[in-house]
Amino acid sequence: MENKKTILITGGAGFIGSHLVRRMVERYPNYHIVNLDVLTYAGNLTNLKDVENASNYEFIKGNIVDKEFVDQLFSERSFDAVIHLAAESHVDRSISSPLDFIYTNIVGTVNLLNSAKNAWAGDFDGKLFYHVSTDEVYGTLGKTGFFVETTSYDPRSPYSASKASSDHLVRAYWHTYDMPIVISNCSNNYGPYQFPEKLLPLSINNIKHGKTIPIYGDGKYTRDWLWVDDHCSAIDVIFHEGKLGETYNIGGDNEWQNIDLIHVLCKIMDKKLGNEPGTAAKLITFVKDRAGHDRRYAIDATKLKTELGWSPSLQFEEGLEKTVDWYLANEEWMENVTSGNYQKYYEDQYVER
Ligand code: NAD
Ligand code: TYD
Repeated sequence: MENKKTILITGGAGFIGSHLVRRMVERYPNYHIVNLDVLTYAGNLTNLKDVENASNYEFIKGNIVDKEFVDQLFSERSFDAVIHLAAESHVDRSISSPLDFIYTNIVGTVNLLNSAKNAWAGDFDGKLFYHVSTDEVYGTLGKTGFFVETTSYDPRSPYSASKASSDHLVRAYWHTYDMPIVISNCSNNYGPYQFPEKLLPLSINNIKHGKTIPIYGDGKYTRDWLWVDDHCSAIDVIFHEGKLGETYNIGGDNEWQNIDLIHVLCKIMDKKLGNEPGTAAKLITFVKDRAGHDRRYAIDATKLKTELGWSPSLQFEEGLEKTVDWYLANEEWMENVTSGNYQKYYEDQYVER
């Protein structure tokens, strides 16, 4: 059994964070998992209903941008490690409100780094600050090639620029203060509990309600898609076996052009909803492109696979079916998160081409 540890997971009420919290609570009864989350529109405690009463789990509501609060938390509690996921995470929102991304993703990360550094006071034995990041920091690719850990940073949206900035700062604390850190950069995740502003849950929800599926530009933008629990299994292995100061790329070897991906989704949705083949595809609508839209992301995860023995568990078609099944079975969750401000966001975001 793993040694006793108290681990602070930030952003644990969000999409990936909730899967990670569940995994750590269930797999490691010796760990005490503290979930720190301010519960923005993207954070939802119902994502963690099944573990909320576990004896090794605790939730704290708080904002990582609030320096005094973060300092106080670290002075009152003794954390052995931080796994930092809290972030503003949606590219389209970063285009309309960049400052929110600067505060949470950059200032919030520095607040955590400073408080951890002060609390650990130079005794870094057994301590770890794990920063969870994205492949978007590397910029955009042409038709060929992959991002490796040494690819130069070239972020092109306010979201990716804020994540790149936080990655640089985390690395600066390793070089300057010997802070024990590790960073991972992952491709697009999919699965249950993802807020329906992102492509897949938004499209599933729209198809279900007979609403148009908005495809930006020509639809030939390419992403690599990874099942969310496979991202979490990678975080788990990097947390336990990763080399201090290192970066690991995480990806699914699973590239899709958006339009092709949506056609596969449409077929699955027709089958699940008992509709004639071709029904969902009629909803595809090309809309105004995202500003500065990155053409292609693709990850080379060889380092993680060869050095730490990680591999993804699910084939994409299987994962996509499981994802659709989950959203169709969890209507109430979808209704809760799409009520209120969501309608206004949706109206502001989508303009027909
Ligand atoms: P998400 O938007 O679903 O969740 C973010 C969580 O952070 C929410 O629970 C929110 O309430 C919380 N949060 C936001 N601001 C906060 C603040 N100031 N203080 C405390 N909590 C705050 O995001 P996600 O998709 O789960 O992504 C989690 C992390 O993984 C992010 O750092 C993101 O950059 C990274 N990442 C995401 C993907 C992806 O495909 N979704 C891929 C690679 C990396
Ligand atoms: P998204 O899920 O927002 O993730 P990211 O921008 O972080 O990759 O978008 C995935 C891809 O789908 C991206 O190329 C933008 C595109 N997209 C659409 O075509 N329509 C939409 O409504 C959304 C939300 C995204």
